Amino acid sequence: MNLAVGWQYEDGRAKAETLALELGLPCVASPDLASAEPWQQVLLFDLQGLALYATGPKRPGPVRADFVSGAVAHRRQFGGGTGQLIARACGIKSGIRPTIVDATAGLGRDAFVLATLGCQVHMLERSSVVHALLAAGLEQAISVPELAETLQRMTLERADGRTWLQKCPEQQQPDLVYLDPMFPHTDKKAQVKKEMLAFRELVGQDTDEAELLAAALEAARCRVVVKRARKAPAITGQKPSYSLEGKSSRYDIYALRALGGAQSSQ
Ligand SMILES: C[S@@+](CC[C@H](N)C(=O)[O-])C[C@H]1O[C@@H](n2cnc3c(N)ncnc32)[C@H](O)[C@@H]1O
Repeated sequence: MNLAVGWQYEDGRAKAETLALELGLPCVASPDLASAEPWQQVLLFDLQGLALYATGPKRPGPVRADFVSGAVAHRRQFGGGTGQLIARACGIKSGIRPTIVDATAGLGRDAFVLATLGCQVHMLERSSVVHALLAAGLEQAISVPELAETLQRMTLERADGRTWLQKCPEQQQPDLVYLDPMFPHTDKKAQVKKEMLAFRELVGQDTDEAELLAAALEAARCRVVVKRARKAPAITGQKPSYSLEGKSSRYDIYALRALGGAQSSQ
C-alpha cells in the first residue's frame, strides 16, 4: 500500500511531520486526493483531526476514530445502555462492570461503548497507522466536556495482543478480554461500507486469531468475548460456552468464572 502522511492546513504541519517520522512515511503538503498517484492512501491532518483518505476520482469518504459526532456519538446518546448485545455479552448489569482489555482496538468504537457503560477498558492495537488514528480520535474527544468521564476509563497502548496477553502479570489480569479480529467477508449480504474498505486494505486479514484467543483465555480472569460476523465460524480452538446473535454480528462467549467478584464490581 502506497501511503503518505499529509496536512491540509498549516496548523497540521508539525503534527504531520512528527507522525511521518514516527511511521517512516513520506510527508506531503495538501496532497491531491483526486489522483490515485503517487499515493493510494493518505493519513491526512484535516480540520477535524486525523483521517485515512483513499485517493482517486471515485474515492470513498475518509475513515477516522470519531467519538464526537456520527454513529458512535449517536449510539452513546440513544444506544440502549445495558440492553445492547455487546453489554449482555460482556456481562454488564447492575453492579457489574468488568475490567476489560480490548486486544483488537481498531477505531475504538466497541471500547468506547464499553467505557460509556462504565467499564475500564485498556485498548491494544498493533497497526501503527490504526493506533495513530485512534490516538488522534481520543485526543480530539478530550475537548468535549461530556465525554471526559468516559475517556478517563479508556487507555491505549500500541502492542500486539498476543504478546501482551502472554506476558500479562497476574495483578494486571483483566476480568474480561474482548476480541474483534478482522474476518474475511464472504457473505455477499454483509455490507461493508465503502469507507471501511480502505481500512481493510490497510490492516489486511488477522490470520493469527487462534493464537490470540488462546492467549486471551490464559489472561482473562472471568470471560473472553469474541465478536464475529453472524455466520462466521467460531475461532479455531476452544469452543465458546454460548453465543448471542444479533442482526449482523454474533458474540461468542467463553465463560471461565462468574463475573462480579470484588475486581469487577464498580
Ligand atoms: C475489526 S478491527 C476492530 C474494530 C474495533 N472493535 C472497533 O470497534 O473499532 C480489528 C483490529 O484489530 C487489530 N488487531 C488484530 N489482531 C491484533 C493483535 N493480535 N494485537 C493487536 N491488534 C490486533 C487490527 O490491526 C485491527 O485494527
